[in-house]
Amino acid sequence: MAGDGANAETPQLNPVMEPLSWMLGTWLSDPPGDGTFPTMKPFQYLEEVHISHVGQPMLNFSFNAFHPDTRKPMHRECGFIRLKPDTNKVAFISAQNTGLVEVEEGEVNGQELSIASHSIARISFAKKPHVEQITRKFRLNSDGKLEQTVSMATTTQPMTQHLHITYKKV
Ligand code: HEM
Repeated sequence: MAGDGANAETPQLNPVMEPLSWMLGTWLSDPPGDGTFPTMKPFQYLEEVHISHVGQPMLNFSFNAFHPDTRKPMHRECGFIRLKPDTNKVAFISAQNTGLVEVEEGEVNGQELSIASHSIARISFAKKPHVEQITRKFRLNSDGKLEQTVSMATTTQPMTQHLHITYKKV
């Protein structure tokens, strides 16, 4: 049986999660994402996104980035998205392969989710510079594509865009 639970049938979306149902699905970067930051040469990346649920009042997500030429795995993160029942208040809980664990909070308004870091923890030997703040925006565009923009502030740079990517549903 699939690892997601004891019930082999696809569970119904928990009604609490309805305001975020537009995020559900498997998404693939189209075109490749753009990475930027004042300290680095601009780069491109591919990313596969899987956003699912098992009927609980939360979404499960994984974001897996790859090098566009070599397909070598790059940044990876996975976690959960929760909604405070009867509000538009969202919590985004993520563990990243770089040794970062973060909670972001914000609001969903229509088909747009805006969140900002609430707490960030990292392993003791995380690479420097450390990230101090993160903001993200997810949006479902009128052409059915999902868009994500991530900005960050580090110990050496003020809040600046790091990633911009659009995904098509696959
Ligand atoms: C560099 C954070 C997602 C690719 C960095 C740096 C930080 C960081 C703090 C170092 C910046 C500096 O040296 O000044 C984050 C955070 C992410 C994220 C918090 C998610 C919320 C991604 C994703 C990719 C990516 C999805 C896609 C491949 C890179 C690359 C570098 C970099 C290529 C430069 C080389 C390196 O330091 O490894 N990132 N990143 N990052 N990031 Fe991200």
